[in-house]
Amino acid sequence: MILLAASEPFAAGDHRLCYRHPHDENLCIKVNRQGKAQMLKARAPFYKQFRPVDSFDDNQIEYRAFQQSAILRNTPEIWRHIPRCYGWVETDIGRGLVTDYYPSEKLNAPATTLEEYLKKFAVTPQLSSALKEFSAYLRRYLLLTKNLMPHNLLVLQEQEGMLRLVLIDGFGLSTIFPVAKYVPAAARRHVEKRLDWLDYRIAWEISDRKISWRDTEKKFTKGGNHIYV
Ligand SMILES: Nc1ncnc2c1ncn2[C@@H]1O[C@H](COP(=O)(O)OP(=O)(O)OP(=O)(O)O)[C@@H](O)[C@H]1O
Ligand SMILES: [Mg+2]
Repeated sequence: MILLAASEPFAAGDHRLCYRHPHDENLCIKVNRQGKAQMLKARAPFYKQFRPVDSFDDNQIEYRAFQQSAILRNTPEIWRHIPRCYGWVETDIGRGLVTDYYPSEKLNAPATTLEEYLKKFAVTPQLSSALKEFSAYLRRYLLLTKNLMPHNLLVLQEQEGMLRLVLIDGFGLSTIFPVAKYVPAAARRHVEKRLDWLDYRIAWEISDRKISWRDTEKKFTKGGNHIYV
């Protein structure tokens, strides 16, 4: 049993608390926030109410999404933009999912998220190259993801000022009929839509944000200009 209750998480999302692994500094352990899955089930539309609580468990959803064919093929390059997932550990605050941890160059801090980076620097030429590399990777491997949220992408510093993006959350599909899992043409359409969406979201992140994201997103259409990705 791994003891986490007395330690501070290094970060927290809406669904999960993220801890450094006490036995290995290169790993992190993600644990669901207490009662989150039950709450999501209670709020779900009626047609999802018959599903078990497990199907609302973010860690469980992510673990399953790591079993998608693009990842199981285990091509060495696949690990360039996603962490490895090492499965489950028992902790004193519930079951934890273990993945690689990405530090920043600053001592004792996790890597910067794309959201933080855009706030500070907007779209630099280095970021633009990193976005292009990441989108080529998604297209090549047809990695299936939910909407690519800037707070779920980390921006890693590489040699000579280069940047590398790593997706740490939001794997899998949120669609009811997972056609993209089985039909390559549907997977390609799925990936293109996620890239269009990311492009659109980045434009909003660096805008004056006078219009809320909620209203901006209503005007999202597939096949918009690829400015960044
Ligand atoms: N492997 C990692 N290495 C470094 N930082 C990480 C890692 N995983 C997560 N983080 C940091 O922790 C934050 C929350 O993690 P994560 O996105 O997995 O939680 P979540 O609750 O599922 O998020 P959401 O709010 O998107 O539902 C991330 O935005 C990121 O800043
Ligand atoms: Mg997240």
